[in-house]
Amino acid sequence: MAGQGSIVLVKIGGSTLGAQDTAIADVAALRREGRQPIVVHGGGAMISDWMGRLGVKSEFVDGLRVTDEVSVEVVAAVLAGAVNKRLVQELSAVGALASGISGADGGLLEGRVDRPELGRVAASLKVDPTPLLRLLDDGCVPVVAPLALDGAEGRNLLNVNADTAAGAIAAAVGADWLVFLTDVDGVLDASGGLLRRVPPERVEQLIGDGVIDGGMIPKVRACLAAAEAGVRGRIVNGTRPNALAACLDGAETGTAIG
Ligand SMILES: Nc1ncnc2c1ncn2[C@@H]1O[C@H](COP(=O)(O)OP(=O)(O)OP(=O)(O)O)[C@@H](O)[C@H]1O
Ligand SMILES: [Mg+2]
Repeated sequence: MAGQGSIVLVKIGGSTLGAQDTAIADVAALRREGRQPIVVHGGGAMISDWMGRLGVKSEFVDGLRVTDEVSVEVVAAVLAGAVNKRLVQELSAVGALASGISGADGGLLEGRVDRPELGRVAASLKVDPTPLLRLLDDGCVPVVAPLALDGAEGRNLLNVNADTAAGAIAAAVGADWLVFLTDVDGVLDASGGLLRRVPPERVEQLIGDGVIDGGMIPKVRACLAAAEAGVRGRIVNGTRPNALAACLDGAETGTAIG
């Protein structure tokens, strides 16, 4: 939408951070080619690591982190601090002008706590893409840490699943592509085989059967939500070299959703 090139939303899983992948170089190359990449990152493993160091136990329900008032501070420090700045630094090192922003900044993500048992976790999101479109117009690669402000009184800081944030942002900016870089080849079936495509009507069935589980649940749901807004969604193995570039070049890698 903004500027010239098509927008490509790239979700970089915390699970692939630091692996020998080419995600950073691929994102920088996209920008040089005139496309407009936006990065949304996770950081689940690093949050759990820091929680452990601080003696706080990590708990998950349906792949979503239960976040109390203490852990939301750790989540914000790790996501908007350590992980976000590392990606900004790595993109800068390969010549991309990168700018870190959290969903709590500039009105980007407003959340609502739909499931109080999860604590400070935004389930549904309202996106104001303006801050991202401005960064794109300035020639930056926005790097988004998945936090939100509560739409309710007090405007509390909320933890957001990075996949959910990526899906909502992709739809709001009118992205062409939503690519999830993760640590598996895509959505695997009950016997571990790669599913090339998961049609919308099969998503909830596969979740109900327990085939799609844990961190893959928010990914497929986010892909589906974005697909309804016309975004092409795919889940690929980001630990493989050229995973992102190959996917955008039309290679039939990973799993297409929708
Ligand atoms: N059917 C399935 N196919 C593939 N992976 C699955 C499936 N069901 C559950 N998973 C799990 O989902 C994981 C990927 O999600 P996970 O949340 O761990 O990573 P990520 O989202 O890339 O990283 P982060 O959460 O840090 O952003 C896989 O490593 C696998 O263990
Ligand atoms: Mg995840």
